[in-house]
Amino acid sequence: MQTSAQIKQRFEESIPWGSSTCAKVPRQEFEPCAMKSGKGCRTYDVLGNDYVDFKCALGPVTLGYSYEPCNEAIRRQLEDGIAFSNPHILECEVAEKLVAHIGCFEKVRFLRTGGEACAAVIRIARAYTGKNHIIQIGYNGWLNGLAIGGKVLPNVKIQQAVPGVPLEISAFYHAANWNDMQVIADYFEQYKDDVAAIIVSADYEHMAEGKTFYPALRKITEENGALLMYDEIVTGFRIALGGVGEYFGVQPDLAVFSKGMGNGVAISAYGGKKEIMETCGRNGKAFITSTSGGETIGLASVNVVIDTYLKEDVVGHMWKMGKKMWDGVNALFDKHHIPLEFRGLYPCPALCEADESADKGRFMNLAFKHGVVLYGTSYVNFSHQDSDITEAHKRLEEACKEYIQE
Ligand SMILES: Cc1ncc(COP(=O)(O)O)c(C=O)c1O
Repeated sequence: MQTSAQIKQRFEESIPWGSSTCAKVPRQEFEPCAMKSGKGCRTYDVLGNDYVDFKCALGPVTLGYSYEPCNEAIRRQLEDGIAFSNPHILECEVAEKLVAHIGCFEKVRFLRTGGEACAAVIRIARAYTGKNHIIQIGYNGWLNGLAIGGKVLPNVKIQQAVPGVPLEISAFYHAANWNDMQVIADYFEQYKDDVAAIIVSADYEHMAEGKTFYPALRKITEENGALLMYDEIVTGFRIALGGVGEYFGVQPDLAVFSKGMGNGVAISAYGGKKEIMETCGRNGKAFITSTSGGETIGLASVNVVIDTYLKEDVVGHMWKMGKKMWDGVNALFDKHHIPLEFRGLYPCPALCEADESADKGRFMNLAFKHGVVLYGTSYVNFSHQDSDITEAHKRLEEACKEYIQE
C-alpha cells in the first residue's frame, strides 16, 4: 500500500502540476491524495478515508455524486451510442429545455468546457458588434486569461505580460474588479467605440452587490453599444436555475452555463438573444464548432438534471441546506474565536479570513483531517441532508479545537 506522499509523488512524475486540473491538486498535508469514489455528498479516497464533501468537484456536482437518475440515463445512452455522424435528437430536446427555462436563452449551442464556451461568446460578440476590446470581470477559463492584471486561474492574477500570450493580443483584453464601475467607465472612455463586450463572473464573497452592479453593467453596455455577457459557470443551476440573470432579474445578451448542468459530466452551453446567436449560424460571421459539441453522455445527464430541478426544489434545497451548513460553521468559528467566516450567498459562499492572524489553509487542512472537504468557494448539493450537515459540524468542531490548540 502506498502512502499519501508516495501517491502525490506518482502524480507529479507523469503530470505537470500533478493533475490536469490545478485546483484539484492537493495543497494540504491531509488533503485527499487521490479519489476513488463518491456517493451523494460523500467521497472516498484511495486510502479508504471518507469525507463529507463541500467541494462538489469544483462545482459541477449539483445533485450528488453518482446520482442514480443521472447514472441510469447515462447507462441507457451508452447502450444507444455516444457519438453519431448527425446530431442526436437529445441535442434538440435539451436545447429546447434550456431555451424554455433559462431567461436569456433564445438560442443555444453546446461545447464541453466552460472556458471554451466563454471563448465562443467572446468571438460572437466581436463578430456581431464589429468591435475588438473585451472587458473581463473575474475568471473565465484558462484560454481567456489574456488580460494583463486579469485572472489566469480562479485565484491567480498576473500583473505583467501573461506568459505565452503576445502583448498584441493582451492589448484587447481589460481586467476590472467586481463592482468597480469607475474602471469600467474608464475603459469605455479609453476605447471609445471599440468595446465589443463585458464578460462577468460573480465575486462569491460580495455577490449580494450584484443587486446594483448588474443593472449598472446593463446600463453602460447599452449606452455604449457593447454586449453584456454573463459567465454563469458557477452561478447557473446553483443560486437559481437561470443563475444571476434570474436571481437579480437583469438579463444579459449572451451567457455561458456549464458546471452545474451535467452533475459532473463535462458540458457547457452558450446562448442568448436569437439575433446575436445567429452570428454563429449558417449565415453569420463567427465560425464555432467542435466534434464533440453535442456529445450525448453530457446531454443525457443535463436532460435529467433539468427535469430534476423542475420537479424538485433543488435550488431551494441548496439555499436551505447552505444556510444550515454555513451559519452553523460560522457559529463554530465564533464559539472558538477563530477569525474565519463564510461570506456570500448560501449556495456558494467564500471562506474568508477576518483578520491577518487567520489561516484558512491551515483550517482546511484540519477539516480534511477530520473528514470534511471544504474549498475557497464551498457548496452543498441536493444530496446533503440534515444529518450530513450535523455530522459535518461535529467533525468541524474537532477541527476548530485543534486549530486553536496549535
Ligand atoms: C467562473 C468560471 N468561469 C470559467 C471557468 C472555466 O471553466 P472550465 O474549467 O470548464 O473551462 C471556471 C472554472 O473554474 C469558472 O469558475
